[in-house]
Amino acid sequence: MFVPTIVVLGALVKSASAAVASTFTAPAAAPTDTSPFYVGASNSTITNTPLVPGKVFDRFIQIWLENTDFASAASQPVFQQLSEQGITLTSYYGVTHTSEPNYLAAAGGDFWGLYDDNFEAVPTNISTVVDLLDQKAISWSSYQENMPTDGYEGFNYTNSDGYTYYVRKHNPLVIYDTVSGNATRAARIRNFNDFAVDLGNNSISQWTFITPNLRDDGHDTTVAYAANWLSYWLLPLLNDTNFNTDRTLILLTFDENETYTINNQVYTVLLGGVIPQSLRNTTDSQFYTHYSTLSTVENNWSLGNLGRQDINKTVSNVFSFVANGTGYQNENVTTLPLLNLTGTIPGPLNPEYYVPYLAPTEGTGAGGGPTIIPNGTNTSLTTANAPAPVNISAAGANVDVKMFSVAVAVVLAASASILLG
Ligand SMILES: *[C@@H]1O[C@H](CO)[C@@H](O)[C@H](O)[C@H]1NC(C)=O
Ligand SMILES: *[C@@H]1O[C@H](CO)[C@@H](O)[C@H](O)[C@H]1NC(C)=O
Ligand SMILES: *[C@@H]1O[C@H](CO)[C@@H](O)[C@H](O)[C@H]1NC(C)=O
Ligand SMILES: *[C@@H]1O[C@H](CO)[C@@H](O)[C@H](O)[C@H]1NC(C)=O
Ligand SMILES: *[C@@H]1O[C@H](CO)[C@@H](O)[C@H](O)[C@H]1NC(C)=O
Ligand SMILES: *[C@@H]1O[C@H](CO)[C@@H](O)[C@H](O)[C@H]1NC(C)=O
Ligand SMILES: *[C@@H]1O[C@H](CO)[C@@H](O)[C@H](O)[C@H]1NC(C)=O
Ligand SMILES: *[C@@H]1O[C@H](CO)[C@@H](O)[C@H](O)[C@H]1NC(C)=O
Ligand SMILES: *[C@@H]1O[C@H](CO)[C@@H](O)[C@H](O)[C@H]1NC(C)=O
Ligand SMILES: *[C@@H]1O[C@H](CO)[C@@H](O)[C@H](O)[C@H]1NC(C)=O
Ligand SMILES: *[C@@H]1O[C@H](CO)[C@@H](O)[C@H](O)[C@H]1NC(C)=O
Ligand SMILES: *[C@@H]1O[C@H](CO)[C@@H](O)[C@H](O)[C@H]1NC(C)=O
Repeated sequence: MFVPTIVVLGALVKSASAAVASTFTAPAAAPTDTSPFYVGASNSTITNTPLVPGKVFDRFIQIWLENTDFASAASQPVFQQLSEQGITLTSYYGVTHTSEPNYLAAAGGDFWGLYDDNFEAVPTNISTVVDLLDQKAISWSSYQENMPTDGYEGFNYTNSDGYTYYVRKHNPLVIYDTVSGNATRAARIRNFNDFAVDLGNNSISQWTFITPNLRDDGHDTTVAYAANWLSYWLLPLLNDTNFNTDRTLILLTFDENETYTINNQVYTVLLGGVIPQSLRNTTDSQFYTHYSTLSTVENNWSLGNLGRQDINKTVSNVFSFVANGTGYQNENVTTLPLLNLTGTIPGPLNPEYYVPYLAPTEGTGAGGGPTIIPNGTNTSLTTANAPAPVNISAAGANVDVKMFSVAVAVVLAASASILLG
């Protein structure tokens, strides 16, 4: 069981056993402090390349919470308080269900047909946002609460109190082999003790992805619990210039809507010093998805693209506040695509509707640069000549061929081919 070294830390800190209690317990006096609750000791300060100025912002920090209805989040005082300080995106959507494919989408521009939270490893011929950032020497990192060691590749991690706080499925970069299979890169996926030290040394990277643990992100708990974590963690950091500079953009979002039977809207707010006073406490009803996090970054730093859904204009509008600053023309999507479809989307991670990993589609994204074609790409395996999806699951091996073709046709029509791109 976790035993805090400091007993009286302030109003938010309950007791030692509260690590597994139903009310939020702060792991330390402040998010700037290390804590024995995080197993791995800090691994020295991260090294960042010199700052690369963006057109609108110089730092982008994403914080992802879990499975919450828009209305429940909106009813929490801390979310109301955050909305007053930022731009609330009232038409921002997750891209599918379950959790893991949404995280995959934010890193690689596709979710590869995945519809569950199983252990996955995306092969090295698939690029991610890290490749785009590395091309321009823009520093990046990810902080995963309760991940035991930097670059940890395990499926999950259980603390000595018996509770599983960390899960791989919420750690988007580690699932991509181009990141986790490269020691230099893997070391940039760090835990929260590293965060405290990196923050103290004013070394937060220019692109940063933050995943709270399964309790703090609301996954195993409630939105009220996640709200308490935000009060402890995010509110003070908004006042900390090592975190939030006047050129920092912060995205607070949820991976997916709790209810599968309706479209996948999630509560999302843009925060940070870069948001001008005139836009604080405003809303923006432009249609965005998790792919917008890629296109916005590409747009801000004039990057290349992944040749995936990051260049599909329907689902990757650049946050208007940024597009207004760069002159980028968004698409006014009037009929929103369904983003609650799951299980029926063809892809390499869908054994019922399997298609191999296809080559990226070369095109121009919001950054204007070229599409990355990773080494080892079979460039003849394109969207245009993709093989028909096949059922490679054990149960499907005996499926009648005619029935199967009908099913595939129905699926392709229903999914409107969003995922074959
Ligand atoms: C889910 O998204 C819909 C819109 O698509 C929104 O009306 C709703 O509040 C969200 N949450 C739930 C639980 O439906
Ligand atoms: C620190 O980094 C080294 C080398 O990269 C690694 O072997 C070790 O596991 C790391 N420690 C932690 C706590 O992550
Ligand atoms: C953690 O992983 C083990 C197997 O590696 C699995 O049995 C267990 O269900 C997982 N727990 C969570 C919360 O993911
Ligand atoms: C590993 O990552 C580093 C830093 O991103 C990069 O410079 C290097 O080319 C990568 N190595 C391989 C083999 O991809
Ligand atoms: C942050 O600063 C504002 C204005 O200076 C102040 O009102 C607020 O209480 C501070 N919040 C925290 C959590 O320190
Ligand atoms: C997705 O949402 C739409 C619109 O709310 C709904 O009509 C449809 O049944 C949902 N699809 C699934 C698979 O739940
Ligand atoms: C934010 O806007 C709402 C209405 O849109 C208003 O009632 C509220 O007073 C505003 N809050 C601040 C801090 O300006
Ligand atoms: C962006 O510019 C448009 C057109 O001038 C304006 O209507 C909109 O409010 C702006 N949005 C933001 C978030 O700055
Ligand atoms: C989208 O709508 C805005 C505001 O009505 C308009 O300024 C803009 O030109 C439209 N964009 C496109 C691509 O039509
Ligand atoms: C491909 O390999 C070449 C030579 O090994 C290397 O310079 C280049 O960075 C690699 N490209 C990618 C996208 O990994
Ligand atoms: C990418 O690699 C996977 C795994 O090796 C392979 O199945 C797939 O055909 C490759 N796709 C392309 C486009 O190179
Ligand atoms: C772009 O996204 C829309 C909406 O999801 C989808 O209908 C369309 O097929 C996608 N286009 C490509 C090329 O993937």
